[in-house]
Amino acid sequence: MIKLTMSFFILSVLVFSFVLTVQGFGSSGHDPLGKILNRQLSSLKSSELVVATTKLSSEYSPVYMSPQEGLKEANKIDSLPGQPEQGVDFDQYSGYVTVDGGKGRALFYYFVESPQNSSTNPLVLWLNGGPGCSSFGNGAMMELGPFKVKRDRMTLDLNEYSWNNAANVIFLESPAGVGFSYSNTTSDYNLSGDERTAEDSYTFLVNWLERFPEYKTRDFFLAGESYAGHYVPQLAQLILHNNKITNQTIINLKGIAIGNAYVDFETSYKGMYNFFWTHSLISDEANKGFGLYCNFSSPYTITDICREFLGQADTGDIFIYDIYAPLCPSSPSSAPPAGIFDPYSDQYINYYLNIPEVQKALHADVTGLPYQWESCSREILALWDDEPLTVLPVIEELMTSDIAVWVYSGDTEGRVPVTSSRYSINKIAATTKTKWYPWYTQKQVGEYAVEYENLTFVTIKLSTS
Ligand SMILES: *[C@@H]1O[C@H](CO)[C@@H](O)[C@H](O)[C@H]1NC(C)=O
Ligand SMILES: *[C@@H]1O[C@H](CO)[C@@H](O)[C@H](O)[C@H]1NC(C)=O
Ligand SMILES: *[C@@H]1O[C@H](CO)[C@@H](O)[C@H](O)[C@H]1NC(C)=O
Ligand SMILES: *[C@@H]1O[C@H](CO)[C@@H](O)[C@H](O)[C@H]1NC(C)=O
Ligand SMILES: *[C@@H]1O[C@H](CO)[C@@H](O)[C@H](O)[C@H]1NC(C)=O
Ligand SMILES: *[C@@H]1O[C@H](CO)[C@@H](O)[C@H](O)[C@H]1NC(C)=O
Repeated sequence: MIKLTMSFFILSVLVFSFVLTVQGFGSSGHDPLGKILNRQLSSLKSSELVVATTKLSSEYSPVYMSPQEGLKEANKIDSLPGQPEQGVDFDQYSGYVTVDGGKGRALFYYFVESPQNSSTNPLVLWLNGGPGCSSFGNGAMMELGPFKVKRDRMTLDLNEYSWNNAANVIFLESPAGVGFSYSNTTSDYNLSGDERTAEDSYTFLVNWLERFPEYKTRDFFLAGESYAGHYVPQLAQLILHNNKITNQTIINLKGIAIGNAYVDFETSYKGMYNFFWTHSLISDEANKGFGLYCNFSSPYTITDICREFLGQADTGDIFIYDIYAPLCPSSPSSAPPAGIFDPYSDQYINYYLNIPEVQKALHADVTGLPYQWESCSREILALWDDEPLTVLPVIEELMTSDIAVWVYSGDTEGRVPVTSSRYSINKIAATTKTKWYPWYTQKQVGEYAVEYENLTFVTIKLSTS
């Protein structure tokens, strides 16, 4: 039953949403996950074994709770500046949830309900990765939310593939320092990392459910992409753990879905170079050297000669998160044909979200932040403090805890390519329940799916042309 609900939810979503994994940082050349992978590579010491080290205490320490009365009504969005006159037949909310009253740390969310069946549709929390990228700007405004910012940068179009057609979706800007989320204690930012992100997101959720109590018992799913391959399993694990020992709200977590998700250092590197070679992005020599001299298995010993070959793999100036996407010329000359991803979307969103009336309508930046809204925070990325090399043991724990696990992968992304996802799954998946089969949408092969015990893998053909 759980799995059926999940399948229904995700399949509806996949049918709605093709350009699923185009990342939000446009073609500005920002590659946060690439930076993390490089950093992990250069900091590896030989024979060092690093695994997921989420510290879960067996004693529940109550999380920060603040009064929520009246805040739901206060967070209701009357209408967003420039939104279409017709067709906005759903409710939207946004605002802050304080996650640490002492430090003055608050996370910004945007919540959009379904136009139909919102009282029975599941609740989904969506997280973008980075680290440091905004789930609101990238997730909601570019990828899977109800609106797209038009080329005039001031008006909005409806997105017919929005996930809120199938679910009630929260987009959370996480952690503090990303987008509109902030802390009044700036040294907080120095603690940015996986652990802090999971803890604050959990505190956000239990407070948010007090603000929206009608969702307390609703089927709940966590979804995200890229570096959220860390956030989603870690938060799911923390929820399950706290559900067992808390006297606070039990979160009704049913499943997770992660797209082109960074979950394992070894399979990421292996899959990435395999993808680069099979997509004509690197030379035979680089590929051969990589195959001969690089071994990313634990215990990790990355030799100098391997590093040399890695350095030789020059893919040139491409948008690695969607390898066939056009790069931006210096100014937008003409609109791309309908249905094609506009590489300038990032710039339109950036402009729109910095308009004071837009921020007012969103109840955002109520404290006069000393910086502009940005789709990704380079500062938070630079301060990122903990990033375990693998979260596969966490995913395995979820799989044996009755949590449906969906792994999906668009096949034109090069940073965490479909090959990396497949190598990762091969490390953890057991019995095949439903063998590899094509799935269809509008009579076309949307791509393929395979179902293992407690884990489903779906590939998606990106229609970028
Ligand atoms: C941060 O400080 C401002 C100004 O003092 C205050 O209005 C706001 O409530 C504080 N934020 C939090 C989350 O405590
Ligand atoms: C809403 O729920 C009804 C009853 O389950 C179903 O027939 C209908 O297709 C649903 N509408 C949407 C848009 O999902
Ligand atoms: C936080 O990090 C910044 C930049 O790295 C550094 O200058 C500052 O001293 C740090 N603050 C604390 C309290 O550690
Ligand atoms: C949970 O338990 C703690 C310690 O026993 C108590 O102080 C607190 O009021 C309880 N919270 C709720 C929501 O019942
Ligand atoms: C890679 O390294 C691991 C751990 O050091 C070792 O067990 C394995 O045999 C190595 N594989 C190859 C192909 O050398
Ligand atoms: C699948 O989940 C069941 C419990 O729901 C568990 O007993 C089994 O070991 C799990 N299998 C795998 C491969 O995770």
